[in-house]
Amino acid sequence: MTIDVEDPGASDPRASVRRRVFVVGSGIMGSGIAAQCALAGYPVTLEDITEELARRGLANATRALEHAVARKKIAPADRESALERIEIAIGLRRADSAQVIVEAAPEDLALKRRLFSELEEAASPSAILASNTSSLPITAIAQDLKDPGRAVGIHFFNPVLQMPLVELIPGHRTRPEVVEAARSFAASLGKTVVASADTPGFVTTRALAVLVNEAAWMLYEGVATKEDIDTAYKLGFHHPMGPFELVDLVGIDTAVAILDVLWDGFRDPRYRACPLLRTMVAAKKLGRKSGEGFYVYPPADAG
Ligand SMILES: NC(=O)c1ccc[n+]([C@@H]2O[C@H](COP(=O)([O-])OP(=O)(O)OC[C@H]3O[C@@H](n4cnc5c(N)ncnc54)[C@H](O)[C@@H]3O)[C@@H](O)[C@H]2O)c1
Repeated sequence: MTIDVEDPGASDPRASVRRRVFVVGSGIMGSGIAAQCALAGYPVTLEDITEELARRGLANATRALEHAVARKKIAPADRESALERIEIAIGLRRADSAQVIVEAAPEDLALKRRLFSELEEAASPSAILASNTSSLPITAIAQDLKDPGRAVGIHFFNPVLQMPLVELIPGHRTRPEVVEAARSFAASLGKTVVASADTPGFVTTRALAVLVNEAAWMLYEGVATKEDIDTAYKLGFHHPMGPFELVDLVGIDTAVAILDVLWDGFRDPRYRACPLLRTMVAAKKLGRKSGEGFYVYPPADAG
């Protein structure tokens, strides 16, 4: 089995014809991944369950590219040509023309297992099936596939256009050529790739979960105020954001879901979610996306 992310007939990599990328789910991550792939020259299909959602995803991808122009990271002409490469779709039918599928649907194992089975039917047999999961084992996502060797984790970071890292996660049955194709695909997007074993939370999400949870426990125990904890992490460790600013960006519900995946996977008390986080989820204080988390956000800064 050969997997090329570029047309093997093209000799100059910059002039080469990129293979299509099919992105499942056009939310925060899917729209950013679509923008990043289009910027790197790939034709992209951005898919969601309704046209309204797919259009919203395309609008978010457009905004991300406009933001990159405003930050002088790309030229206006790059934005235009990238946007011309993105089409939207409803349903998985168009997956048949893609060589790389990136699933960015919600962090729900049952949903991802079902989507992977459907993608195996819809996509070309030579396409790689990648998940952007931030914590779920790739082996578990791929368990219903007839060919689990084609599944791999390609974990992007938010916001995709600004974050230089991609975490690469081979499942227990992933074939070496699929891992290499995923690695060269991520590198072709200009990302630095780190590899992780297929354990819950991989490297980055496991580290993030503990960092945020420990801050929540310190606040819960009255060790310090949230402002002082944020300042301590920023000025003491050179972190660009404090843990409460960060979890407000990620989503407090997402942080609890990740801690639960780690708890289920390891049964280690290190991953016991602080009750304060669960209370905030029950109170619908989810962070920026709900307008309030540890901090309050005016409508212009929410979402
Ligand atoms: N948000 C982050 O900071 C972040 C960072 C890295 C990885 N991730 C991971 O990326 C994935 C997506 O997260 P997100 O934050 O973009 O979520 P999101 O909720 O913003 O987007 C998910 C999208 O998937 C769509 N969707 C739901 N069911 C679908 C289906 N059956 N078929 C196609 N589309 C479907 C939804 O309509 C929505 O548009 C998750 O696995 C998450 O863990 C998130």
